[in-house]
Amino acid sequence: MQQMILDVDTGIDDALALLLAVRHPGVNLRAVTCVAGNASLEQVVRNTLTVLDAAGAGDIPVAAGAHRPLLSEAHSAAHVHGADGLGDLGLPESSRTVVPLHAVELLRREILASPTPVTLVPLAPMTNIALLVRLYPEVLDNVERIVFMGGSASVGNATAVAEFNTWHDPEAAEIVLTSGAPITMYGLDVFYAVTIPPEDIVRLAASPEPGTQLAGRLLQHLVTVKGSEVRVAGDGHGDIGDAGAVCAAIDPDGLSTTHLPVRVSLADPLTRGQTVVDHRTAGHDQAGAGDPLFRRIDVALGINSARYAKLFLDTITR
Ligand code: BDR
Ligand code: CA
Repeated sequence: MQQMILDVDTGIDDALALLLAVRHPGVNLRAVTCVAGNASLEQVVRNTLTVLDAAGAGDIPVAAGAHRPLLSEAHSAAHVHGADGLGDLGLPESSRTVVPLHAVELLRREILASPTPVTLVPLAPMTNIALLVRLYPEVLDNVERIVFMGGSASVGNATAVAEFNTWHDPEAAEIVLTSGAPITMYGLDVFYAVTIPPEDIVRLAASPEPGTQLAGRLLQHLVTVKGSEVRVAGDGHGDIGDAGAVCAAIDPDGLSTTHLPVRVSLADPLTRGQTVVDHRTAGHDQAGAGDPLFRRIDVALGINSARYAKLFLDTITR
């Protein structure tokens, strides 16, 4: 059984990821930690508990974490995720409650208590994970890998060059990238690639089963999103976003990665939050592979979209 923890800013994509992780028979979702990102921390917590209800999850501990990034101001993504962060679907409040621990403490507890090393899957600005790494670096000994959604080796979405999660808290991303843990960057280069066809979205949304139906309704919302982020493949397909990172954690062979030097841009306002990826293989005349500030991580550059779409659909409709 794979031991997994999700760090989320639920968020439509995060909701799809939670549904997948809760439902997958090979995953023991040990905890879910929340952070401000797509929506305020309070909203993220509410949404996370609601999604766990719909997923039919057992008693998975949920904790609230950071209200805001380490240095940056918080920015909302309501234009993508709706005012409530979950597509304004009018979902019921959950009667679940959070554990009386800060997210960092819950992360520490569950990582140390895990019988086998944990796969940590941050799907949000990495504020909680950076705090964990700074406060309790020893927990990394029981972390198998960090598979994070964030960054880009090409274009951005929050800005021309920066992806939303790394742009929202660049200092946190840099702390995590330099933590020494094995890291997979599931960034924008693959993020939009796993799509669900319109007929499957309709089928999911029409299901009487609450978790399946929620997945369908969230995908229906995403298909309508316009603006800075193109979430539609053009023919009514909806992408599963963050849930793809959970697919990558469960089934890494569906992803093709390259071990590359990466550094997060912190100071320059034009590039702040950009994950600068050094693709050069030889002849570094200046900064790059030889620069100690660049750390090598596994950057996802290719993906078997059909394989992950099947994994998602099969699991969600179990
Ligand atoms: C990331 O930002 C959020 O909108 C999504 O949930 C995802 O984690 C994509 O840039
Ligand atoms: Ca997210």
